[in-house]
Amino acid sequence: MAKVFQSNHPLMQHKLALLRDVKTEPKRFRELVREVTWLLLYEATEDLTPVERPVTTPMGSTVGKVLVEVIAFAPILRAGLTMVGPALEMIPTAHVWHIGLYRDEETLRPIEYYTNVPQTAGAGVVFILDPMLATGGSAVAAADILKRTGVRNIKFVGLIAAPEGIERLSSAHPEVPIHIAAVDQGLNEIGYIVPGLGDAGDRLFGTGGVLSLALSPVEGLSKG
Ligand code: PRP
Ligand code: URA
Repeated sequence: MAKVFQSNHPLMQHKLALLRDVKTEPKRFRELVREVTWLLLYEATEDLTPVERPVTTPMGSTVGKVLVEVIAFAPILRAGLTMVGPALEMIPTAHVWHIGLYRDEETLRPIEYYTNVPQTAGAGVVFILDPMLATGGSAVAAADILKRTGVRNIKFVGLIAAPEGIERLSSAHPEVPIHIAAVDQGLNEIGYIVPGLGDAGDRLFGTGGVLSLALSPVEGLSKG
């Protein structure tokens, strides 16, 4: 059964609306992904277990609670890369394991082109980071890769999911919770989420023809 955690926070909804807007240019798009990742991870880390540790304050002694378990972030390239910065701002001691996958445009199957995950990984919990869960093929492949290294506690953190992707990920890896900002209507005939936000990688890195024309580079510079 799917363990789907959808954030209904008003701040999340506001930022998501800006992200979806076709007029949002790459600079602002990246900033929004950063802000939304903070909010998502705040919720996705809710069940981490801190341990008690004595703390000396300028005024006396107390017992604090600190996180000691090894945490790793596993961004799916390219789009997941933008989620790594804010994730490390929250948990600077985390490891980062890169998983390079792209979707074949015809088959929609994920093609693995780069993986840098320690073979004896040994993290307490690994967060797969990818803005989009469309057919679910990439997320399932990432979880497969992680499990082959012995990782057992995996969570998926993303921005927008299609019901098809949720179904596929939770069938293949039912124990992996899915933390997501929105679950949309579904996929169109070429495998894009509708209404979605378009191609996340292209919008982040300015590689999509039409979308990157929304603001010219010169206008972008003048806006700082
Ligand atoms: C996008 C997205 C996911 C994948 C989701 O990546 O970032 O990784 O598609 O689709 P799926 O659920 O059907 O597998 P894409 O393949 O466009 O690569 P990119 O990030 O390098 O542009
Ligand atoms: N990948 C994206 O970036 N967007 C979609 O809608 C589907 C897959």
